[in-house]
This record gives sequence, structure tokens and C-alpha cells, in this order.
Amino acid sequence: MRAMDGYNGAMPGGRVDGSDKRRRPRVAGPVAGAARCAWGLIMGLALLASVATSADAGKEHAMTTIALPPPRTEGALSIETALARRRSVRTFAARPLTMDQLGQILWAAQGITGSRWPLRTAPSAGALYPLEIYVVAGQIKALDEGIYRYRPQAHALAPVKTGDHRGALARAALGQGWMAKAPVMLAITGVISRTAAKYGRRAERYVFMEAGHAAQNIYLQVQADGLGTTAVGAFRDKAVQALLRLPDGEVPLYLMPVGVPR
Ligand SMILES: Cc1cc2nc3c(=O)[nH]c(=O)nc-3n(C[C@H](O)[C@H](O)[C@H](O)COP(=O)(O)O)c2cc1C
Repeated sequence: MRAMDGYNGAMPGGRVDGSDKRRRPRVAGPVAGAARCAWGLIMGLALLASVATSADAGKEHAMTTIALPPPRTEGALSIETALARRRSVRTFAARPLTMDQLGQILWAAQGITGSRWPLRTAPSAGALYPLEIYVVAGQIKALDEGIYRYRPQAHALAPVKTGDHRGALARAALGQGWMAKAPVMLAITGVISRTAAKYGRRAERYVFMEAGHAAQNIYLQVQADGLGTTAVGAFRDKAVQALLRLPDGEVPLYLMPVGVPR
């Protein structure tokens, strides 16, 4: 398989089913400029569409969102040290997280980093951004217990439902009771149709790959901030879907309890 098989993110107008073998024609001068312009326009429209989709995905009943503190883009721990020390953590101290810590982790997972286009910390096939991140909050300072959806564009939380749902999520994860002791649990979900609109049958694998990127970003940010997490893939889909109030077509991919390691 060629490295680029099935990926036509750089080929506006290409086929979407992974079978496209056409190459982008070489063009120069004013034609190249016009092509770049057209590509910029297409990228812009695709990104606007993805922004609108995720903003409208709204299961949130409240119109208000909760602003998160701005993320840091520098830190004390090197990427090499974070990689060398990363381990899955399943025992947590009974200590709450702060909004700074929560906001930083969410930014690492899916935060906006592009200045010209709203590109994100994790790569996405065709910049279509099929992932959503949910926060199942139990002990976060200055945040009520509840389930929230991260809104990357606003770097804010949109309430989904109130109450402490960590125990229910741990039960949905085949009774992995250690999860409920974390002050917060994140859930990464995917809307495969967002990516399928362009990539057809390859969309499912692309969305799974993207969940891996986001999860690794979370692992490394958590490590850098002296916290711990574990990527959990064992859970009952329907139970998690119901708990998070996911609409049809949005599937849970990973659960990640986060806390201070004990
Ligand atoms: C796809 C996937 C699913 C996983 N599911 C679970 C899980 O359900 N429960 C759990 O405790 N750990 C789970 N893990 C974490 C692995 O057990 C862990 O990464 C592995 O033991 C290696 O340890 P390390 O992450 O500390 O290097 C999962 C990891 C991956 C990549």
C-alpha cells in the first residue's frame, strides 16, 4: 500500500472512497496562485462546515457555556521526558483538579492552534474534525458535578446534564471500579459521517486513528502536569451512548479517567 493511498486531503475534488490514484497536476505562475486560492477557499468551507457541525451537535440544553482558562503553550517538562515517563495510572488520590488543569488537557486533546484556519492540536483527515470530547466531572474546583461537552472554538464547556455520573460510566466500562475514583473522566467520541462525507468507507478507520492521536495528546499533557490517566477501550457502547446523551451516529471511542496519581 502506498503511503498516501486513501488520503486525498490535499486533493480537492478527488474521489472519496480511498481508491483515488490521481495526482495533483503540476501548475505554475498565475495558475498556481489561482489553484492555491481555490484550495484555500475549499479548505475554508470544509472547516466552516466542521465548525458549524460541531457547534450545532448540541445536546446541550442550556444556552450558556462555561469558559475555560486560556491554555499554556509552554511547559517545564520536555516532550522526551513526558514520553519516557508516560504510564497508565489507575489509582488516584482524593484530590480535585483545577479548571486550569482541565482546560489544559482539553486543549491538548482538541484545542485550536491554527491562526489562519481553526486547525487543532491533533491531526484530522481533511481537517474535518469528527471527534468530540466529553467531561464527566466529579471533583473539579469551581465546576459543578455533571457532564459537559468541550467546544474547541470557544475553549469552553457546554453543559449536557447535571449530577455525578462517574459511577455509572465505570459500570458501563464493564465494572472497572477504579475509574470512578478519578476526579474527572473524559470520553472521546466520533461522528463518522463528518469524515465519510469526503472519505467514504475509509472514514471509520480515519476516525479511530484520530481518537488515538487525541488520546496520546491527553496522556502526554497529563504526564507533563503531574497527573495520571489510562485509555479505556472496554465498555458497553449503548450504555455510554445513553449516559452521554449521544445522538444517533456519534459513537464512544475511548474513556480516560484523569487524576492525581496515588
Ligand atoms: C485500545 C486500548 C484499550 C485499552 N483498554 C483498557 C481498559 O479497558 N482498561 C484498562 O485498565 N486499560 C486499558 N488500556 C491500557 C493498557 O492496558 C495499557 O496501555 C498497557 O497495559 C500498557 O501500559 P502503559 O500504558 O502503562 O504503557 C487500553 C489501551 C489501549 C491502547
